[in-house]
Amino acid sequence: MTSGRPPTHAPYPYPLSADALREAVAQYGANPVYQDSAEWFNEDNPYRRQMRPQDLGHLDFSRVLPASEILGNSALAAQRLLTSIYEADMMYLPPTGFAEKREDFSAFYNASNRTLGEMIRPALERHAYGFLDDEVHVTGKWTRDSFRSYLEAFAENPPNGDSPSIRAVENSSDPERAARMYLLQFAADFLSEASPMVRNALGNYGNPQSEWFKIIIDEYGYGVHETKHSRLYENTLESVGLRSDVHHYWQFYLSSSLMMNNYFHFLAKNHENFFRHLGALYYTETALIEDCRSQSKMMRKVFGDSADVTYFDEHVHIDTHHSRMAIDKLIWPVIERCGEGVIPDIVRGFEELQAINVIADRDLVDQIRWMDGEPVGKDLHGPVRAAIDSGTVTAPVTRLVEPRGKLTNTFVHDEDVLCHVVSGTMKVVCGLDSHHILEAGQGMVIPRQRLHGASIESEECVYEIHSVGDYRKCLS
Ligand SMILES: [Fe+2]
Ligand SMILES: [Fe+2]
Repeated sequence: MTSGRPPTHAPYPYPLSADALREAVAQYGANPVYQDSAEWFNEDNPYRRQMRPQDLGHLDFSRVLPASEILGNSALAAQRLLTSIYEADMMYLPPTGFAEKREDFSAFYNASNRTLGEMIRPALERHAYGFLDDEVHVTGKWTRDSFRSYLEAFAENPPNGDSPSIRAVENSSDPERAARMYLLQFAADFLSEASPMVRNALGNYGNPQSEWFKIIIDEYGYGVHETKHSRLYENTLESVGLRSDVHHYWQFYLSSSLMMNNYFHFLAKNHENFFRHLGALYYTETALIEDCRSQSKMMRKVFGDSADVTYFDEHVHIDTHHSRMAIDKLIWPVIERCGEGVIPDIVRGFEELQAINVIADRDLVDQIRWMDGEPVGKDLHGPVRAAIDSGTVTAPVTRLVEPRGKLTNTFVHDEDVLCHVVSGTMKVVCGLDSHHILEAGQGMVIPRQRLHGASIESEECVYEIHSVGDYRKCLS
């Protein structure tokens, strides 16, 4: 029995037909601030967010993505779109050069960008988060007692912070590079930390509202800028040679990193998800205690004493407090006020965030391995090409001709592809500071769902993309 949640993949009350949705998404993506960039990084400009608008018209956002596609190109596009739509509610000003960016400021905050964003948001949320309806089932009748037992079972076996992605960083062939890629994944979230929470600070819901507000005050450093958590994270990034301007590394966010951050906006922007938000808040405040302890240790191990780990150490301390506040001052009083009927939603948020955590961790492990050259894409070129040439494997091919400087903004393929350079020179970028140079006659396998981009390093480059499906079938 399922209680307290809508039927699987419930239609949203504001449906657009698939065609109308495609058109509205294309219109949203036509905004100048979402166009492809000729550079890998955004320079101190929080309004620029590369969306690969040329892809948007080919993607079907009207369907619910199954879990198997949740790291695919459509998911990445949806998460990039959602990040921008949610952030139109948030205030960003670049530290310098506002006058030159004023047009971008207007393009990002103007009414048509906001309105178009709101039109497509419910469909994008359903597309990107609908799979959770199948992943997480909260069944049975929940009472205060059964919820208490559930929490006790969790407390007996809390998350230990020993995440596979931290181990992947430490075991990487280039731990500093891996650690930077790891840290920038959190930038979208931590540089505007607790902003989703502020969405639920408005209104009137009694004492829990004031307790909620207390957590926000902590996150905002009691109005002392140097202690605001986003400020602490800026220091962390800068201490290891990373930039701290908002979305500097936009093209290097994995879709699962955006999925994690957007999940909180999805809960908080839609107030019908308030009880789920409570569960997710409790999980995050609790899990962060050990996560931050491990992150701090990893930073010390990789970068030594020069790393500023105040952000992580502060969270070990304050989140012990926040975890208790979330349960004692928010969750139980809300159950008191609203009844046991809200417990399934609280549990749902708690479980969903764990599911998203597992996905994000796995994605980051795979990306770090890909940056390290595993599977060894270049070594696979020969056998995979031989399989295609001999006809053992049939793979649709696209031939492209591009001029010097052309930058393929980052994205993922939904299946393994063989990239083969016919003439010229191409640089395939696999993550921050990680790339392969391919000359004429060379190539590499780009595995499905791995973030990558490319730039042309010769006057002209002719190359082919062979969609092989699963490259392993070319090896047998
Ligand atoms: Fe915080
Ligand atoms: Fe916190």
